[in-house]
Amino acid sequence: MTTEIPATLIPGDGIGPEIVDATLAALDALKAPFVWDRQIAGLEGVKTVGDPLPQATLDSIRRTRLALKGPLETPSSGGYRSSNVRLREEFKLYANLRPALTIIPGGRFDKIDLVVVRENLEGLYIGHEHFVQIDDDPHAVAMATGINTRAGSRRLLEFAFEHAVATGRKKVTIVHKANIMKALTGIFLETGLDLYERKYKGRFQLDTVIIDACAMKLVLNPWQFDMLVTTNLFGDILSDLVAGLVGGLGMAPGANIGANAAIFEAVHGSAPDIAGQNKANPTALLLAAAMMLDHVKLIDLATRLRRAIDATLNIDKVRTGDLGGSATTQAFAKALVSRITNG
Ligand code: NAI
Repeated sequence: MTTEIPATLIPGDGIGPEIVDATLAALDALKAPFVWDRQIAGLEGVKTVGDPLPQATLDSIRRTRLALKGPLETPSSGGYRSSNVRLREEFKLYANLRPALTIIPGGRFDKIDLVVVRENLEGLYIGHEHFVQIDDDPHAVAMATGINTRAGSRRLLEFAFEHAVATGRKKVTIVHKANIMKALTGIFLETGLDLYERKYKGRFQLDTVIIDACAMKLVLNPWQFDMLVTTNLFGDILSDLVAGLVGGLGMAPGANIGANAAIFEAVHGSAPDIAGQNKANPTALLLAAAMMLDHVKLIDLATRLRRAIDATLNIDKVRTGDLGGSATTQAFAKALVSRITNG
């Protein structure tokens, strides 16, 4: 019998509870040995206990070191700071792994198999920003500080290069803007080139590209890339772009990985426009659950889950609205469970 694995479960905001229910149904059908400790965060945390990241949630992840998380709402402009960013900081989840793989063939871009590795803790996301008042305008000037460190860049690049070797990637491309932000993103580029020369040369091909050219190339010919590794903000933007290449945000999973914990989630947010309507596509979170199974070395279960998702979408043709279908979240979950159970 497989040993039980304690894990934290955060259903999250908006469509979170709906896609989490669908994902739990699939994991139950697989008899995945997770023992869930349910916790809250984000808007749900604010509403229930007045805190977007309650201590009990932090304590739970500190104990389990493993979490599956629905999206958490963050107000734009004012309000509280993103609980997602705080979770990454709290558990030093420095690597964000975002694979984009074509599951439904025949789309605008076919046969995509790309992975974006994003630095998750530094850069322009550190939250050092403020307004400066001039005369009677309190928001006359806005300032932000970005910080990238040699050690932080190296840790992330090493993670990416090791992942490339372990998964047989042929080419890694460092994405930067060192022509303009010569220090901030130059340090990342320089560290990557140096690390490659000293430790990884010959194990895969290394290339570099400026972020704006990369965006264009991804749309013209995404097949020229294999793995993209980049700083925080660029990685955030590019991972949504590559999600678009494989059918949209409903198909894009993500893993936040650090030395002492890992949190798995969909790339997308809480989708308030469709929340509570039984319309959301749970595939991204299901694929994140497959990454979580890989992470705890339950590779057979991860493979069974991915195969069942593929069969539900492509053989049974059960698809949610974002993929051009008419299935509800629950109908998709039911079809998937039946695929898992009956093959
Ligand atoms: P979003 O990703 O929630 O939605 C963008 C568009 O994609 C919407 O039209 C939505 O309906 C659609 N969409 C997203 N996921 C879908 C799914 N599974 N199935 C079908 N359609 C889907 O981005 P938005 O609206 O910018 O952000 C909403 C909230 O989510 C914000 O408060 C934001 O801060 C938060 N957010 C949280 C993230 C996280 O927890 N990791 C990541 C991104 C945003």
